[in-house]
Amino acid sequence: VIKRSFSTSMAKNAIKNVTVIGGGLMGSGIAQVTAQAGQNVTLVEVNADVLKKTETSIATSLARVAKKLYKDKPSDGEKFVAETRGRIKGKNIDIKHKLFKDLDAAAPPTTLFASNTSSLSIGEIASVTNRKDRFGGLHFFNPVPVMKLLEVIRTPETSDETYQAFMAWGKSIGKVCITCKDTPGFVVNRLLVPYMAEAVRMYERGDASARDIDTAMKLGAGYPMGPFELNDYVGLDTTNFILEGWHKKMPENPLFEPLESMKKLVSEGKFGIKSGEGYYKYD
Ligand code: CAA
Repeated sequence: VIKRSFSTSMAKNAIKNVTVIGGGLMGSGIAQVTAQAGQNVTLVEVNADVLKKTETSIATSLARVAKKLYKDKPSDGEKFVAETRGRIKGKNIDIKHKLFKDLDAAAPPTTLFASNTSSLSIGEIASVTNRKDRFGGLHFFNPVPVMKLLEVIRTPETSDETYQAFMAWGKSIGKVCITCKDTPGFVVNRLLVPYMAEAVRMYERGDASARDIDTAMKLGAGYPMGPFELNDYVGLDTTNFILEGWHKKMPENPLFEPLESMKKLVSEGKFGIKSGEGYYKYD
């Protein structure tokens, strides 16, 4: 379940070595921003094909970052890309099951663990380990290289030392950190997911087209993307997974009711931009 997560080891109180587990949309972005900050990253992925794709998508994203940072000196940009890529080591191992339990047994006691889960309870994940005090949530936003926010999640058992190390690490990779308790969706998703779901319900009722709802929210509320563009961008499988999980836990809350059009698209393999079609079609 916990595909996108990472563990960190401490050297002189500052986190310098980071292991990112899972090379999907989020894992690749997290590995990238960490390496950009000069830290060493091991990127672990169970699927060798995904690992290859991850390396390509990091290279593409780094080229965009370099173009911006070194627009007057492209040769420095090339050096930045090569050095950053050099800090990321790909590793293809099959550790999908009992992930944190196995890692807990294998990692040095000083290693901190964090999960980038969007919707699961950090406390529940931490409970399979013997280091609940060295476990927290570090929740990033897509696209990781661009979005400045990092949500740092404390469970009642996360120690002050662990929490401070996470806050300092977030800052060291250039993010602005906020703190949240271990609650469903933390801050951003708890507000964003019901908003996206309400937009879909509006479309399903036939009140307005997806395109018009998107235009309305961009031009009337100043959002960079409309809710359907954002759903396709984040991945319908992800939003659907979050909603279904919350609905199961809190069936009385109408905001978390799963969405018929979304369930259908997901069952057809239409996950949004990453699969070429979602609420919109992409070439
Ligand atoms: N890597 C590196 N740079 C990137 C990038 C990437 N993957 N994607 C975009 N950029 C850079 C571009 O190079 C560009 O830089 P300049 O301005 O210097 O040229 C800049 O970002 C803007 O990109 P674009 O011009 O291509 O497009 P845009 O202006 O429409 O911005 C966007 C794209 C940043 C994604 C913007 O549309 C946006 O902020 N959208 C909302 C994203 C959002 O809400 N994310 C949160 C989703 S929820 C989530 O992630 C949590 C979860 O658990 C589900």
